[in-house]
This record gives sequence, C-alpha cells and structure tokens, in this order.
Amino acid sequence: MLGFLPLLVPIAFGLHATASPTFLSKRSTLELVVTSVPDYVRPYIVRAYSLDGLAVGSQVYRFPVTGPASGGAFTLISTAAPASDALGIHKAHYENFFCLRGSFRLWANDEARLFTPGDYGAVPPSTNHTFQIVDPFSELVGVISPGGFEDLFTVLAQSNYTSVLEAPFTAGPVAATAGGDASIITTLEKYDVYAELEYSPRTDMVNGSAPSTAAWHNAPNTLATDAATPFFVAKDYGPRYLNNATGQYQIIEPLLTPTQTDGNFTMGNIILSRTFARKTPAVYTLPHSHTALEVVDGQLTLKMEKETVELEIGDVAFVPAGTAFSYWSQVAYTKILYIGNGTQTLDQQLLGNAASWDYAVFPSSPPS
Ligand SMILES: *[C@@H]1O[C@H](CO)[C@@H](O)[C@H](O)[C@H]1NC(C)=O
Ligand SMILES: *[C@@H]1O[C@H](CO)[C@@H](O)[C@H](O)[C@H]1NC(C)=O
Ligand SMILES: *[C@@H]1O[C@H](CO)[C@@H](O)[C@H](O)[C@H]1NC(C)=O
Ligand SMILES: *[C@@H]1O[C@H](CO)[C@@H](O)[C@H](O)[C@H]1NC(C)=O
Ligand SMILES: *[C@@H]1O[C@H](CO)[C@@H](O)[C@H](O)[C@H]1NC(C)=O
Ligand SMILES: *[C@@H]1O[C@H](CO)[C@@H](O)[C@H](O)[C@H]1NC(C)=O
Repeated sequence: MLGFLPLLVPIAFGLHATASPTFLSKRSTLELVVTSVPDYVRPYIVRAYSLDGLAVGSQVYRFPVTGPASGGAFTLISTAAPASDALGIHKAHYENFFCLRGSFRLWANDEARLFTPGDYGAVPPSTNHTFQIVDPFSELVGVISPGGFEDLFTVLAQSNYTSVLEAPFTAGPVAATAGGDASIITTLEKYDVYAELEYSPRTDMVNGSAPSTAAWHNAPNTLATDAATPFFVAKDYGPRYLNNATGQYQIIEPLLTPTQTDGNFTMGNIILSRTFARKTPAVYTLPHSHTALEVVDGQLTLKMEKETVELEIGDVAFVPAGTAFSYWSQVAYTKILYIGNGTQTLDQQLLGNAASWDYAVFPSSPPS
C-alpha cells in the first residue's frame, strides 16, 4: 500500500509524439467486434471486460482505445478495481475521469470530490491529482489526450490480466500497488509522470466535496472557461441541450468543449430517447474527427460498415474519421459517453441544431 504517498504532478506535456495517422481504406470484410484492439485506425467495437488487461496491484487496466488505434488522437482506459487504500498514478496529458460503476475519490489541485456513477472530473495538464477507489467494485473510465498514454502502464504493470470468464478483476485480497518506489518514479518521467511528493490531498470532504461549499449533487456545475483549470461536473448537473432533429431526442451534456481543450478534443454525454414513429435515425459522417462511444446506461444500437450491433453498458465503439455511422436506442433511456478529436465533433454538430434544456430527461412525446 502506498497510503497517501505519491502524488504526481504533470509538468511537461506533449512528450508523446503522436503516431502518424493511418487511415484504412474501407474494408467491410473485417470483423467489427474485436477482442484485441487494432494497432491501426479502423472501425471496431470492444465488449466490456473482453480485453486482456494489465494488473497494477488489484486494479485491472484495459485500453478500449489506444494511441495506435486512434492515430494518436486519444486513449480510453477502463480501470476496474476493488476498494483500496492506495492512491493512483498521474501525469501531464489532459486527463478525464468518469465514474461508470461504484465510487472513487478524485483530488485535483486544492479540491476533492467523491464520485458516484455518471460524475466527471477534468484534469488539465500540470494539475496535481490522484484518486482512490472506494467501493468494492468500481470502474473508472479515463480519457487521455493525446493518445499513447497506455505505454506508461506497460511499465507499471505487475502482471498481465486475462480471464476466460471476463471477470472484471481478480477476486481476492487487495494487492499492493507499485509506483511509490523512487527508482520507478524517475523512470516514469519519460512517460510524462512527475512525482510531487509534497502534495498532500485534503481529507476534509463533507457530503462528497471539499471545500464543502462547492456545488456537488446539490446545484448546477459549470465547465471551466479556459484550458488550464480543473473542474467537476456531477451527473446531470452540467449544461444540457436538446436536439429534436435526428429522429429521436438527444440531450447533449457537454463535459469538454473546444474552450476547455484548446480545440484538441471534445467529450460529454448524450441521452437518447426511443426513435420517433415513422422516423429513421440520422446518419453521421465526421470527416475531421475520430469518435469513440461508450454506453453508460441503457442499450445502444450502432450501425457502421453495413453492420448493426447492440452495445451494452461498458461496450465501446471506435468510429474513424470519414466512416458513416448511425445510432439509436431500442430501450426507453440510453446514455452514452462520446469523445471526438478536433472541433468538428459529433456533439458540435448536434449542438448546432439544439436548444438549451433544463431537464435530465427528454420530453414525454415527440415533437409535433
Ligand atoms: C505481458 O505480456 C507481454 C506480451 O506477452 C509481455 O511482453 C510482458 O512482459 C508481460 N508483462 C508482465 C508485467 O508480465
Ligand atoms: C502542486 O503541489 C506542489 C506541492 O507538492 C505545489 O508546490 C504546487 O504549487 C502544486 N501545483 C498546483 C497547480 O497546485
Ligand atoms: C451535508 O448534507 C446534509 C444533508 O443534506 C446537510 O444538512 C448539511 O448542511 C450538509 N453539510 C454541508 C457542510 O453542506
Ligand atoms: C492541445 O494539443 C497541443 C498539441 O498537442 C498541446 O500542446 C496542448 O497542451 C493541448 N492543450 C490541452 C489543453 O490539452
Ligand atoms: C484527429 O486525429 C487524427 C489522428 O491523429 C488526425 O489525423 C486528425 O488531424 C485529427 N483531427 C483534428 C481536427 O485534430
Ligand atoms: C425542436 O428544436 C428546435 C431547435 O432547437 C426548436 O426551435 C423547436 O421548438 C423544437 N420543436 C419542438 C416541438 O420541441
């Protein structure tokens, strides 16, 4: 266990050279659902927990989107873990924390929050930060830009993790996490991880927040107005916009817009209604943006490369720039997490035809 030992500070960034983009010419013969992530850009889907992972203590890290799979655009990490005293690992890329299951604590500079499912935290470059898993089965979705940050974990990993039953992680006593060792910490600098051993995370959370006066599950949250300030958005407490023009209601809940990322990428949630009667869901092609979609509630039907696939909670689809795709919900309420690089992203397209919306659910009948 590390206790409250290593707090790592991102200082430098841009250390990861982005891989040169490789765009695959359309080949519909490829299997869409894969069990190992491609090492080049192509459309694919990975099922929750189906990937082999890397074990760091009892935490299992899986990488549904990698630097190579996204042409260097971003990395998507799934961390499935039991409760632990140990604190996590940190760096200088733009890092995002989203709670899919269970709960964890996240510290960013002088603030701390207790995350429950649907909560989000933005950790821009050069932010002191760490996290601690709280519940016995928790899952943290991490998004890091630019891509390639997964290389760090090949250094930190104590073993490879695989399970014929696709168990999220190994049942058993919680194992110690590596990373506190001074020689390891030095090694990590080339992976853009800088130890900040003096950083001492505050322990005075009240009602899930420190300072206790911060809005957390009791009042609206706003996004930072620049690309350097960390911020937190509790589930459904951020800005919301309703789009009624795509054959279904879509509530867009932006978490990162070009303002918070210097235009590097955007991410957020989309809530979907069922498709309206006699309507066909819209088809999208994003020529300048790779997109990842992860189901966080309900069930998503995704059509891409002439195939139609049902996605459940934790499943991830990667849609390369230029690939036509369409998606809809066959259940009453579906929520997805989207990530897109650049500024001409899925959400920016949807927001162009949406109006500010005050509620966490869509209207109870279709637009007339
Ligand atoms: C995980 O597997 C890879 C490929 O077989 C191997 O190179 C690596 O050393 C393994 N890592 C650990 C920590 O055992
Ligand atoms: C990060 O923590 C160190 C102390 O460990 C402090 O000197 C520095 O100012 C902190 N940086 C920020 C941005 O809070
Ligand atoms: C914590 O929550 C309780 C119950 O809602 C409330 O009475 C109390 O004032 C809150 N404490 C702070 C410091 O906000
Ligand atoms: C945006 O990307 C550029 C180039 O990689 C990088 O230098 C910059 O730090 C990034 N900005 C943010 C806010 O991540
Ligand atoms: C998105 O990422 C790909 C791969 O790195 C790159 O080719 C493309 O230019 C990026 N788009 C934008 C708008 O940044
Ligand atoms: C549909 O959305 C448009 C644009 O946001 C809005 O002007 C219109 O009032 C909406 N229609 C209905 C019936 O909600």
